[in-house]
Amino acid sequence: MSAGGVLRAVAVVGSPRLNGNTVRVVDEVLAELGRRAVECDKIMLGEQRIAPCRGHVTCKGLDACLLDDDAAAVLDRVYRADCLILASPVYYEDVSAQMKTFIDRNAYYFYRDAWLRARAVGLIAVTKVTGIEETLATMRRYVTLSTTGEVPVFTLGGYAGDPGDAAAQPELLAAARGLAADLAGALGLSAAAIPGSQ
Ligand SMILES: Cc1cc2nc3c(=O)[nH]c(=O)nc-3n(C[C@H](O)[C@H](O)[C@H](O)COP(=O)(O)O)c2cc1C
Repeated sequence: MSAGGVLRAVAVVGSPRLNGNTVRVVDEVLAELGRRAVECDKIMLGEQRIAPCRGHVTCKGLDACLLDDDAAAVLDRVYRADCLILASPVYYEDVSAQMKTFIDRNAYYFYRDAWLRARAVGLIAVTKVTGIEETLATMRRYVTLSTTGEVPVFTLGGYAGDPGDAAAQPELLAAARGLAADLAGALGLSAAAIPGSQ
């Protein structure tokens, strides 16, 4: 929660396409959360310098990760979020390389027994045809390994292959707003958006 008691949502987006289908769905979720007065933060992994984990597994004894890149700042935003959204396009029936690299870099927190504080998690996978379940399952395992106790997880799979496909599907965008409503409910916010906000 930020200083003024406002709830914070962070969306981590694994698509390199700044105007792709995945980000279109994420933007719909964030806009709906914003209407419920949630402060929203979107991280486009493709715009960050995040190198693959080096696998030395000595994280616990270090003051900082040996890799001096953007991961520390990204992870700081992620671990402080009240609500976390992970979104990936389906690549070879799993998460994108950007999302997998992000997940592996969470090892710095994992080996220090540091856990996500999010009270609600949303997972979004977008594909042309195949791989929704596999991609959601990878991100769900990340959440399980990064939390203690039960955290409500809500999922959304979208079928949108070519640029502009997600924007042209009112039912997919409605499902995205539904995901936001579920997240808001889990955060203890009212089911309805605040009239006149944003
Ligand atoms: C490297 C790569 C691998 C892909 N693998 C799959 C796949 O396994 N199954 C599928 O149906 N679509 C696959 N796709 C299509 C994407 O999931 C689809 O274009 C999606 O809309 C991309 O989301 P974006 O617009 O957010 O980048 C692949 C695309 C790329 C670039």
